Amino acid sequence: KLLTVSILGAALVAGTAQARDYDHVRFGVDVPYEPMEYRLPSGELTGFDIDLGNALCEEIGITCEWIVQEWDGIIPGLMSRNYDAIMSSMTINDERRQTVRFSDPYFTPPSAWFAPAESDIDSLEGMAIGVQRGTLQDNYVTDLFGDVASISRYSTADDMVLDMEAERLDIVFLDYPVGKSTLLDSEERDYVVVGEMITEPKEYFGDGFGIAFRQRDEALAERFNEALATLRENGTYDEIYQRYFGE
Ligand code: ARG
Repeated sequence: KLLTVSILGAALVAGTAQARDYDHVRFGVDVPYEPMEYRLPSGELTGFDIDLGNALCEEIGITCEWIVQEWDGIIPGLMSRNYDAIMSSMTINDERRQTVRFSDPYFTPPSAWFAPAESDIDSLEGMAIGVQRGTLQDNYVTDLFGDVASISRYSTADDMVLDMEAERLDIVFLDYPVGKSTLLDSEERDYVVVGEMITEPKEYFGDGFGIAFRQRDEALAERFNEALATLRENGTYDEIYQRYFGE
């Protein structure tokens, strides 16, 4: 009899662990990735993801907190419960879907190639290419140009931008809004977008940015999806969008 009771108890505990009800959510985020997530001179975190994430938590009626984590270890950090979700310009794709559960997409920018304005690039052969390690841009460049170009992988996007400014790279491949804000808008030097905006193939470029959760947190993901729909309807999403991408 005792045995049955303790087995039942264990099942109950496992059950609650499966459908945990959050009143506080910790987001893992990799910074700087301007204008998506970065620090003000005061050290305070800001950016499109930060403002949208905070607004979503407010709409749901929970508190949230941001935990800075280098991109390369951001999914393992979610699995180790260092935080409960990732909101860090993470592109939804099938490979990541095997490990995490994504919210609906909240932003769908293309990727783009950025190079100094004076450069004349008609082929990537022999080029020194920069990417952030572990991004879809890294996967794409490694698979398509790994044999013909020299690829440098950076743990943070700003280390890559510094090497670009120091002329150690010919070209970098980035989420377009980040290249725009860190290179096109830079006062250091003139940069341009080389070629087209890139959104295909989907296998690499996925389905827009989503918030990543642990697979079992379906209810939590649903609460964020509902809140996102509300913020799109009531104008809050547009207001945040204008703050970072308006002219
Ligand atoms: N969107 C790209 C990807 O998912 C890069 C995201 C990098 N994000 C960041 N905060 N550093 O692979």
